[in-house]
Amino acid sequence: MDKLRITGGRPLQGTVRISGAKNAALPVMAATLLAPGVHRLRNVPRLRDTRTFARVLELLGAKVEFEGNLLTIDTQGVNSVEAPYELVKTMRASIYVLGPLLARFGEARVSLPGGCAWGPRPVNLHLTGLQAMGAALEIEHGYIVGRGVKLKGATIGFDVVSVGATAQLMMAAVLAEGTTVLENVALEPDITVLGEVLVACGARIDGLGSRRLSIQGVRSLRPIDTAIIPDRIEAATFAAAAAMTGGKIRLEGVAPDHFEAPLRKLEEAGCTLLREAGAVTVSGPGRPRAVNVVTQPFPGFPTDMQAQMIAVCALADGTSVIEDTIYVDRFTHVPELARMGARIELKGNVAVVKGVERLSGAQVMATDLRASASLVLAALAAEGESLIDRIYHLDRGYETLETKFAALGARIERVS
Ligand code: EPZ
Repeated sequence: MDKLRITGGRPLQGTVRISGAKNAALPVMAATLLAPGVHRLRNVPRLRDTRTFARVLELLGAKVEFEGNLLTIDTQGVNSVEAPYELVKTMRASIYVLGPLLARFGEARVSLPGGCAWGPRPVNLHLTGLQAMGAALEIEHGYIVGRGVKLKGATIGFDVVSVGATAQLMMAAVLAEGTTVLENVALEPDITVLGEVLVACGARIDGLGSRRLSIQGVRSLRPIDTAIIPDRIEAATFAAAAAMTGGKIRLEGVAPDHFEAPLRKLEEAGCTLLREAGAVTVSGPGRPRAVNVVTQPFPGFPTDMQAQMIAVCALADGTSVIEDTIYVDRFTHVPELARMGARIELKGNVAVVKGVERLSGAQVMATDLRASASLVLAALAAEGESLIDRIYHLDRGYETLETKFAALGARIERVS
């Protein structure tokens, strides 16, 4: 199993080009099922997760081809409505095929995602929303099964802001009979862009960028031809690396307003930012200042940066309080950071981080995608050598991360 060997303690310098966003690419890949045709997606990151999604589409009968970061998906030959447990269990986002399959074929057999290390991650909002649109869904042998479904417009209000459920019901509603109104929707850029891509293909969606969407169903859509937006979480992760190593990193090919909340927090921690169109330069302080963070749905501070921010605060001058309101139990990185000398006390969904002067390199284990990013950051700032195990988690959401860090002067290599 691959590991990363990192020798820390060097300020990172230079420019890094940010890849396309995993969380924007996955729903757009699912949306290709809505229109039989040849779809072109540019700037798609080559990740374990985009490859897994490509595999799901191939099992449904689509032809999928990756050429660099160009993904061509031919959905004319789709002839199955089954997304198997073997794939869905490795990536929850596979559930995104459910709405499009029901909308196009009136049928679907999609495995329930199953458990997650961070506590309950239900999909009840996906299912109740589809049921409100007239889908009779059964759970059979661990699968969500829909037969003879004719989706109809409905008014659906979400109790919780959910990225996944918003995307799911948007895709189901664009081909439904009549008008669907979605209230309290997610505003993440991945969602707004999915809406814009669907509108460009002929969908009728009003209210994008607001918490209320009105979607008038149409008979058919044209194939997608789009470029995936930059990954704001990857960008914010590199910004945190500048903060932790006292370096200066220019992030290129980014949309700064997509990660304004983490940028503002890093500024509060003492970073200096130079914002330009499509780029941000982050200069880290000698030592970060302690900051308090509460994760929120966009445009609030993203939970997907919580682990990386805990790593920054582990080296800060003072005590930081970091609360995750989205996932109450997303702290599997904390005991690993403690192995590197971090002082973090967990109280429910709150981490109290007492900053230390220095971290020391150690053997640690990645447990999920963003937890592994926080370990990489800590190792880049730590004294001595670290060995990070199970980095397949990292490969799920970061494209050639070690190559990008090495280009910024990091001593980092992948070893098996
Ligand atoms: C998306 O997950 C992202 N994944 C996650 O990023 C991210 O952490 C999350 O949004 C929040 O920003 C992708 O885009 C593929 P939610 P998703 O539905 O859609 C509750 C990463 O690191 N909820 O917005 O699964 C849920 O339990 C990944 O890239 C319900 O109760 O998240 C959570 O507390 C990890 N019922 C909250 O809503 C539902 O039916 C937000 O979840 C659905 C969600």
